[in-house]
Amino acid sequence: MSETAAWDDELATVERDGAVGEPMVRQAVRWLAGRRPLGGSRVLDVGAGLGNATVLLAEEFAASEVIAVDPTARFTARAAARFAERGLGDRVRAEPGAIGGQELAGLAPADVVWCAHVVHHLPDPVAALRELASLLVPGSGVLAVAEGGLPSRFLPGGYGVGHPSFVNRLEATLSDHFAGSWSLTDAAVGGGRDWPLLFADAGLRHSESRTFLLDLPAPVSDEVRAHVVGRFTRIQRLIGEKLRAEDAAALARLLDPGDPLALANRPDLFVLQATTWHLGTTA
Ligand SMILES: C[S@@+](CC[C@H](N)C(=O)[O-])C[C@H]1O[C@@H](n2cnc3c(N)ncnc32)[C@H](O)[C@@H]1O
Repeated sequence: MSETAAWDDELATVERDGAVGEPMVRQAVRWLAGRRPLGGSRVLDVGAGLGNATVLLAEEFAASEVIAVDPTARFTARAAARFAERGLGDRVRAEPGAIGGQELAGLAPADVVWCAHVVHHLPDPVAALRELASLLVPGSGVLAVAEGGLPSRFLPGGYGVGHPSFVNRLEATLSDHFAGSWSLTDAAVGGGRDWPLLFADAGLRHSESRTFLLDLPAPVSDEVRAHVVGRFTRIQRLIGEKLRAEDAAALARLLDPGDPLALANRPDLFVLQATTWHLGTTA
């Protein structure tokens, strides 16, 4: 596959995942807007990806300048196209920039900094939080960070393709995998120092955390089904070889379109996902 085709595939996947998750992100944005009503002001979406949340932030903070920042040029280009398609005009724009880079400081001060599913990827999450805090209007600015939540579920019970405890072992193996690959593993996987404590380490005052559900009951749309198949395909790629033989076989059944119990064929497929947002201020 050419590099361009691989990028296009990745863009299409991220685009679909963003669309599927929108009802949950919308709840979080509304919650934030209820706590931080703004007039004319600046909102930054740092590590915005394709700008899905940026659009929702622009809707809720309807009088604000809203800027999507991301280091991946293909993502900011797609985000800019999305804003134009939605007719959001000059008020909403996409810019290159990264935590740890030079560009972000030039976008301060911001009344709201939104940063979802970015910080746990970075080598020093506390330094990243400190940098995000430095972008806020002192005293009144609010940082909203989305990281972690609860393990997601997609089928009833034990998924029907192996021993019922298959699902628990799948989650445990995935959790161990990420613990080995993320920088601040305890925080990333909900261990010893969770995000409110990390906020304190970064000099932020943690004000509130809330968890929102993505609850898409059966029967799901083709788009949602493709999203779930994509997630399990990735899980198989990441940890397939670490599973015991009976669990690897159960996972393979879920991904075999010829199997009546596969994700592709199940009428009882659903999505239940819980993601936590944490708010902090500099005061
Ligand atoms: C998992 S995606 C999250 C995208 C979006 N925030 C969301 O919730 O769907 C992580 C994003 O972080 C961006 N990223 C990677 N390194 C970054 C950095 N140092 N600072 C800001 N964003 C970064 C990537 O380009 C990617 O768009």
